[in-house]
Amino acid sequence: MKEMIDVMITEAAIQKRIEELAEEISHDYHGLTLSLICVLKGGVIFLSDLSRKLAVDVEMDFMDVSSYGSDTVSSGIVRIDKDLARPITGKHVLLIEDILDTGQTLSRLIRHLTAQNPASLKVCTLLDKPERRVAQDVVPEYIGFTIPDNFVVGYGLDYAQKYRQLPYIGAVRFEK
Ligand code: IMP
Ligand code: MG
Repeated sequence: MKEMIDVMITEAAIQKRIEELAEEISHDYHGLTLSLICVLKGGVIFLSDLSRKLAVDVEMDFMDVSSYGSDTVSSGIVRIDKDLARPITGKHVLLIEDILDTGQTLSRLIRHLTAQNPASLKVCTLLDKPERRVAQDVVPEYIGFTIPDNFVVGYGLDYAQKYRQLPYIGAVRFEK
């Protein structure tokens, strides 16, 4: 089966929305140092574009998680493959994610990070697929785009590790 990619959100639309988000975040964290925690690998492109538009002091750290399951459906069992390099106790933390789907990944991460007593902990996700939410406790403070329940790739998101470098978000369509 060959997959085709239909453009869903253009590069220009993503960049415009990132400017808006950066302005909002810079306003909300005015005078503070913000600890950006990027969820690898999908969040890395969003982190690099968003962080360069922020007008506040920024620190960065990275976590890697994996959830068992097939290519397009996550199982709900989330394993932490790489933890933070430095503690976040007393820091203002913003978790940077590519997409919020069932919410199970972020729910697990939020529990893990809250245990370190950050000063604050909020979530910024480029994409939100609310139709698929299972973990109702995950409420992102900043959302780039709310999208329908399509499997999407590009701008950090992959299908079987492919397409992360696309500058736009595309919906995957399978052809026989
Ligand atoms: P959740 O735990 O179900 O919220 O899944 C979140 C993770 O699943 C994301 O960080 C992505 O890595 C992956 N994911 C969910 N939906 C998609 C999609 O449409 N395309 C690519 N990856 C996705
Ligand atoms: Mg991810």
